[in-house]
Amino acid sequence: MAPPGRIVAGFLAPHPPHLVYAENPPQNEAVAQGGWEVLRAGYAQVRQRLAQVDYDTLVVHSPHWKTVTGHHLLAAPHFRSLSVDPIFPNLFRYHYDLSVDVELARAIAAEGQDAGLVTQLMENPDFRVDYGTITSCHLVNPEWDKPIVAISSNRANFYFSNEVGQAEMLALGVATRRAIERTGRRAVLLASNSLSHRHFTVEPELPEDMSAEHPYNNNQYQWDMRVLELMRAGQCRQLLEIMPDFIEQAVSECKDGSLTWLLGALGVPDYPATVHAYGTVIGTGNAVVQWDPPAAATGAGT
Ligand SMILES: [Fe+2]
Repeated sequence: MAPPGRIVAGFLAPHPPHLVYAENPPQNEAVAQGGWEVLRAGYAQVRQRLAQVDYDTLVVHSPHWKTVTGHHLLAAPHFRSLSVDPIFPNLFRYHYDLSVDVELARAIAAEGQDAGLVTQLMENPDFRVDYGTITSCHLVNPEWDKPIVAISSNRANFYFSNEVGQAEMLALGVATRRAIERTGRRAVLLASNSLSHRHFTVEPELPEDMSAEHPYNNNQYQWDMRVLELMRAGQCRQLLEIMPDFIEQAVSECKDGSLTWLLGALGVPDYPATVHAYGTVIGTGNAVVQWDPPAAATGAGT
């Protein structure tokens, strides 16, 4: 009998399109002189780590596939099109061609329904995949040689409250983990959101002019440092307790639920995370963070 599946690693893997732009991959039409090197070095470390890891599938939760009714999952075998960032079309016009682990997507949807969540499968192969999913997956695996599962960002935080949204995302995380275990997958999870998210409204003439890049303000920066401190200390339960305040006071993209989903899937880690990099992009705080769950841990949490 095949061994039960497990989450082999989880990452906070933010999706500023600037990071893909700065790498000049062949899939992107825009051409850059570089920029945001610290965050890109963090992602390079992630790629090095994952080169040592045997895994089947990347599961990504993205803030930029926004769904009002329930949690949606890509569930056609292939998606191929052009993704253009609506805010930064000058930076991100990316030709993607990706495969989906449909069996796992269906299993997550079924586990979610069993847990009382509303889930929906996106089976239209002409559906335009959001740039958050594409950016995070590209930065972690630019070869695109693994299938993905992409999960939408339900709006519970926005239409109800941060507390309601948090409960919803933790339940979705548990459903994701159960589906991974049931299908025997060795999965890597990506939470695609930034941390503090107040951002500049005017772009420098040269977008990659790093003399213009810094935290939007010190309050945002200090909030991000507090959050990273809790991650490094293995205090994710405490992080969830302050998350509603963090979201409001730092205008955090955690409001879209990706990080909370990841923490739920990992059983709310009480072991230290590795922070590969922190840096700002148009003033927003972005961290590349890794959790390595012990083999027994992800099945034990809530
Ligand atoms: Fe975003």
